[in-house]
Amino acid sequence: MISNKIQDAINDQINAELWSAYLYLSMSMNFEAQGRSGIANWFKIQFQEEQDHAQIFINYLNQRGGRVLLKAIDAVPTEWSTPLDAFKATLQHEQKVTSLINALYTLAEQEHDYATRDRLNWFVGEQVEEEDNCRQLIDKFSLIGDNGMGLYMLDQELAARTYAAPSPLAAE
Ligand code: FEO
Repeated sequence: MISNKIQDAINDQINAELWSAYLYLSMSMNFEAQGRSGIANWFKIQFQEEQDHAQIFINYLNQRGGRVLLKAIDAVPTEWSTPLDAFKATLQHEQKVTSLINALYTLAEQEHDYATRDRLNWFVGEQVEEEDNCRQLIDKFSLIGDNGMGLYMLDQELAARTYAAPSPLAAE
């Protein structure tokens, strides 16, 4: 069994992951509307990955005999004027998610819930990767600035991103 405290915290994190998914789908639609299909593709895959993150927590809670309780997903922003703005907002958001994962980790230690701590180790590593990916893209978009050819090439690069489940833990 899992404690109510940990169960509640994981349910909050499921909501946060689904909010992240919704945020990135909104970014994808923003760039689709601007005719930047490569960037839209990158965010659409990010949307899928965030659903996987939620699914990993859902699978885990079910495995531990807990109860998944889905809450309302808050509204997300809908407009980003440039890719650089969107990737800066993404990095800021991912840093917030990292702090949520860290707080959950601390709670698991306080509650002596070592199974939860063990599962969270995957998320600790994933957040390093998420933040690094954003930083690299911020660097690239900053370097290119308003250069049309550069923006076109980078859009093509992001169009090549394909979805792969981030972990077998996400299998339903
Ligand atoms: Fe689920 Fe991007 O953190």
